[in-house]
Amino acid sequence: FFFQAEDGIRDDLVTGVQTCALPILQRGHAGRNELVTVVRVIAIDGPAGAGKSTIAKALAARLHLDYLDTGAMYRAVTFAALRSELDLADEDAVASLARRVELEVGGRGVFVDGVDATSDIRGPQVTAAVSKVAANSGVRAEMRQRQQQWAAERGGGVIEGRDIGSVVFPDAELKLYLTASPRVRAERRVAEAGGDVDEIERSIAARDLLDSTRADSPLTEAAGSATVDTTGLTIPQVLDRILQLLEPA
Ligand code: DC
Repeated sequence: FFFQAEDGIRDDLVTGVQTCALPILQRGHAGRNELVTVVRVIAIDGPAGAGKSTIAKALAARLHLDYLDTGAMYRAVTFAALRSELDLADEDAVASLARRVELEVGGRGVFVDGVDATSDIRGPQVTAAVSKVAANSGVRAEMRQRQQQWAAERGGGVIEGRDIGSVVFPDAELKLYLTASPRVRAERRVAEAGGDVDEIERSIAARDLLDSTRADSPLTEAAGSATVDTTGLTIPQVLDRILQLLEPA
């Protein structure tokens, strides 16, 4: 299940950036060897606190792939909208901002128009507002396009979010849906960032509800995805299960 430039599958993913990804020699339709561009995507979706970021980063390191946190992209747009004091209910204004904002989401941190927003995007204001911005179809269309471009430029990556396997990369090599009990998910967030576990559990549940009931690309288990319930599992145990799923049958 690779995306291939030459066979017309997901051609939109690679148009214009084929020279950036690593071309490989592969037997083409006419039986001749042809240079094709392979985009290797591992898609990881699931609700907040399921362990997506930890697992995605570890998996990316193991597979020598880059890692993309798409939640950080929606958080970064929310940060930009709050900073510009936009009315988040004004969908056109927020979508237009999403199209022009310069985002850098990577190992160096998260930068929004050159401003370091790495810690602010995890703060209470952005966290409370992000589901509203993530429900905006104009914002989603722009983020989707940037995510596809990101993968095409690198020959793929481990990409985590809510709609990665269902909408952004439906032909990913592996689609994972990570989940865990609401209590465990809240406890993990508290261990990371502090706070009251009951309150965090309520706020996670409210965000999950908004994310899974919105009209545009709601959080859902994608067709063909493997569900891994991480409740009671250690990080190495989750990684082992995923690496088994990647082995050829
Ligand atoms: O993973 P996270 O908690 O940082 O995500 C922040 C918000 O962005 C969350 O409310 C869901 C939304 N999101 C989304 O709608 N689609 C994605 N691909 C990733 C995140």
